[in-house]
Amino acid sequence: MADHEGKIRIALTGFMGVGKSTVARNLSRLAGLTRIDLDDFLENKLGQSVPEYIKKNGIEHFRDAEAEALSEVIADRTFGIISLGGGTFISEANRRLLQESDITSIWLEAGFEHCWANIQNSYRERPLAGNRENAKRLYEERGLVYCLADWHFLIGSGNNSLDVAKQIAEQVFGIE
Ligand code: S3P
Repeated sequence: MADHEGKIRIALTGFMGVGKSTVARNLSRLAGLTRIDLDDFLENKLGQSVPEYIKKNGIEHFRDAEAEALSEVIADRTFGIISLGGGTFISEANRRLLQESDITSIWLEAGFEHCWANIQNSYRERPLAGNRENAKRLYEERGLVYCLADWHFLIGSGNNSLDVAKQIAEQVFGIE
């Protein structure tokens, strides 16, 4: 596997349903970087799905497990692209860890309706989303923290996940 020592490493953040994993997949191909999805890593490690783990152990334990998984993923330098869970970047300690590890953070933003439609159409359960009203409130609160990321890209009509992956490749990695 490639070692990303000395190369830019990035973490994608943004609300549930924005398309972090899809952008990561496209970007991985365009930039030739190995990617990891923090939720997938956690699910392998915990031997159960994230929603199952949250239901059984509660959100606090999930956040602890998520923080630990983040340090492990960061320590493994084979990964150049990390797609975070929607709540990972909300933790100040996680943000500090990313910064101290020289990981460039990128906020992927889309309108609430885009995220909500994806949440509803997805096979993945999102226990944190709850109903529409709850998800909207969380979306608004979290925008105030996501905006602390180093970069910001908008996904929406006329700018899909592949377009955004190309923009990140060009602007962040300097790949034409
Ligand atoms: C969460 C988002 C989920 C997952 C967990 C908690 C959140 O990831 O980590 O259900 O707090 O926003 P996605 O953003 O990939 O859905």
